[in-house]
Amino acid sequence: MEKIRKAYVRTYGCKQNFADSEKIMGLLLTLGYIAVKTPEEADLIIFNTCAVRENAEQRVFGNVGVLKKLKGDNPGLVIILCGCMTQQPHMAEYFKAKFPFLNAIIGTNILTALPGIIGAEAVFPSAEEIKPLREGEFSANVPIMNGCDNFCTYCVVPLVRGREVSRTPEKIIDEIKGLIAENRRDILLLGQNVNSYKPDFMELLHEIDSLDGEFTISYMTSHPKDCKKELIDFIAESRNISRHLHLPVQSGSNRILELMNRGYTREQYIELAEYAKSKIPEISLTTDILVGFPGETYEDFKDTLSLTEEIGFDSAYTFIYSKREGTAAANFADPVPPEEKSKWFRELLEVQGRISERSYLKHIGKSLRVFCTGEGRSNPELLTGKSKQGIIVDFAGSDELRGKFVDVKITKALPWALVGQLTVNK
Ligand code: 5AD
Ligand code: SF4
Repeated sequence: MEKIRKAYVRTYGCKQNFADSEKIMGLLLTLGYIAVKTPEEADLIIFNTCAVRENAEQRVFGNVGVLKKLKGDNPGLVIILCGCMTQQPHMAEYFKAKFPFLNAIIGTNILTALPGIIGAEAVFPSAEEIKPLREGEFSANVPIMNGCDNFCTYCVVPLVRGREVSRTPEKIIDEIKGLIAENRRDILLLGQNVNSYKPDFMELLHEIDSLDGEFTISYMTSHPKDCKKELIDFIAESRNISRHLHLPVQSGSNRILELMNRGYTREQYIELAEYAKSKIPEISLTTDILVGFPGETYEDFKDTLSLTEEIGFDSAYTFIYSKREGTAAANFADPVPPEEKSKWFRELLEVQGRISERSYLKHIGKSLRVFCTGEGRSNPELLTGKSKQGIIVDFAGSDELRGKFVDVKITKALPWALVGQLTVNK
């Protein structure tokens, strides 16, 4: 009998990359592999890398180095690097020179290159036809577009993922119908800038929202320059669109926003955020903030702090600027020392920490609609789910509630989740 071939895929970075890995694993299944949980068990190891910040790259270097021993013990082992990091020619060269035991370094086009590399002879499906092997039982990530046309001056994404390409609405709707039929009712639409989805993002959301049944559709990432008030109006009226808006602001200083090429001002951003809060009072508003952009002064940073306070984000992903080769900002003067940037960063964390805590407390006493996904987070004896605002909610209940919508009255706020009690059980 032929030996079962085992594949291990490790993913770094954003949800888009995780979705790509689910496709890679889906393709490997059709080529006769099964998925394993550790590199030690595998005949094929794939690292799907991320280039957005230096610390993600450092982790890849460390983890790839460790594979040398596995390859030494098992020369038949196939090791492949792919993803955004290896799409950059200087990185591909570096990997080739430093880790000669790698079998292939592919970049972001792995789905077409993979069968050839592992010697598969079968006719294999196009990327669109591959059914992803999804993590989790009741949720799904659905890429609606790939690439980015914006060229924010700090960001490497347009250089590694290329220009925007949208999937057709028909393909997306078909996929979502299939997911709902599988009872995957927590669905996240993915794109670097979903608001510029072609032909039309709002039309797409409208079609999805009209599908039968109860489900939650969220999406990321929205770009503030392209997120229109009509979209907010539509969400407010929708049945199934998430009440979570992730709207990366990056900076509160108009001078820095302009240097970043973001295409909006502080005032425009605040107006949009306030509009969303007024139209959808239960909305959860989250953001990304970049600290220490080249040329940023403490005055600029204080504008970011004041914006953070003024808006009161439910939570914020905060990053220290990391220089990316090939981007415009890599050529900007960057005189502020790293220790100083770290100090600002800690200040922001502290301010945002207080705001997040306050924002979670406001749910206490309220009843939230929650899609139960199973495994308890704060306590294994509890169930866990996701509210319409995208917040994790833990509650006591029986196992048959998994995969169902329930109403939960919130009794307690943790730093990263809410805890409550079941009220109605439909
Ligand atoms: N350095 C630090 N953070 C970055 N991001 C994008 N590029 C960089 C960079 N060069 C952050 C932005 C973006 C998020 C996904 O990653 O805040 O919104
Ligand atoms: Fe990068 Fe800006 Fe595109 Fe987002 S919108 S992926 S930050 S270039």
